[in-house]
Amino acid sequence: MATKLTNESEIDGESATAAVVGASGFAGGELLRLLSGHPGFEIAAATSRSRAGRSVGAVHPNLRGTGLRFSDPVDLDPVDVLFAATPHGVTTDHIDEFREGADLVVDLSADFRLDTPETYDEWYDGHDRPELVGEAVYALPELHREELPGADLIAGGGCNATAAIVGLYPLAEAGFLDGARVVVDVKVGSSEGGAGGGVASSHPERSGVVRPYAPTGHRHEAEILQEIDAEFDLSFTAHAVDMVRGASATCHVFPADGGPVEARDCWRAYREAYDEEPFVRLQAGGRGVYRYPEPKAVAGTNIAEVGFETDGDRLVVFSAIDNVGKGSAGQAVHAANVALGYPETAGLDFPGLHPVGAP
Ligand SMILES: NC(=O)c1ccc[n+]([C@@H]2O[C@H](COP(=O)([O-])OP(=O)(O)OC[C@H]3O[C@@H](n4cnc5c(N)ncnc54)[C@H](OP(=O)(O)O)[C@@H]3O)[C@@H](O)[C@H]2O)c1
Repeated sequence: MATKLTNESEIDGESATAAVVGASGFAGGELLRLLSGHPGFEIAAATSRSRAGRSVGAVHPNLRGTGLRFSDPVDLDPVDVLFAATPHGVTTDHIDEFREGADLVVDLSADFRLDTPETYDEWYDGHDRPELVGEAVYALPELHREELPGADLIAGGGCNATAAIVGLYPLAEAGFLDGARVVVDVKVGSSEGGAGGGVASSHPERSGVVRPYAPTGHRHEAEILQEIDAEFDLSFTAHAVDMVRGASATCHVFPADGGPVEARDCWRAYREAYDEEPFVRLQAGGRGVYRYPEPKAVAGTNIAEVGFETDGDRLVVFSAIDNVGKGSAGQAVHAANVALGYPETAGLDFPGLHPVGAP
């Protein structure tokens, strides 16, 4: 059977130097894991203010043996690519020095994801550098492949938004979302809250939960509305569930004309959008235990699984990603590959694990 993973590992020329700012966090740790196995990057710096001087393996045990050490971000030397995996606001505060010190800045936070200062006013208490808003390319290559080559500022998407966007994008392209009502329900793992996630993410409190944590007004709605090119009515709710990695989006789509949307038309829409995509696989029905998109099946990868079922006036779309993979670090490396002209799958061309416990 054919596979879209191509094992492209040849990079012409010298490796690019990379710095990861915020390397002691979950997204930063995943960046280090991906970059350390990437044929086109040499990790020049992995920063943490609180752990400067300590070995990376002391924080990320999967990276023991790499020889990497944390450094203080004030000691950053110029690099080709700077990945920022820092909390909201940090990249905005440091954007001038980041851009002076790197040809390409890939920011994983929400700082430059939205296109207009007005949207930041509406969803994020404004923006401290409104003149720069709109300069970044949103990282998802499935939507922005043409704009990424040569970009100097890339904004990684939110993990919940990414899960919803990969599910809804083909329907918008096929015209099924115009005038539709769309209800998105995302279940997400605890690593979404970061290494300093606080009591809500502590093991005793998180274990066993299916906890609505953003029933209304989640900020990722802004990204979904921005990135999906259709006029539709969106309702969004997120639940914290008992996973470490993973985001699973269920999108209930009620078309404007009352439907039904035929399954064959949906298949056509998804195939047209994703047949050539190396990191999206369609998973709908079939046999076995895992018949629909499943976070466990993509844990540790940059793969998004997408599937759907039709149900009269409702179309239900499922998508699954790893929130620190396709939902942040994987997406960032994929976008950087496209920006630098590397093979798209470089450093990312591996499947997930099976069997595996709760990821
Ligand atoms: N976790 C996810 O699933 C996910 C998904 C998509 C996007 N993101 C985004 O990615 C970013 C990082 O998320 P995370 O979950 O990895 O967070 P995290 O685990 O809390 O890590 C944050 C990192 O930033 C560093 N940091 C904090 N304040 C800093 C500052 N002022 N200057 C320099 N470094 C600073 C921290 O180390 P020191 O304090 O030691 O410097 C740490 O290494 C966030 O913006 C988040 O929204 C995360």
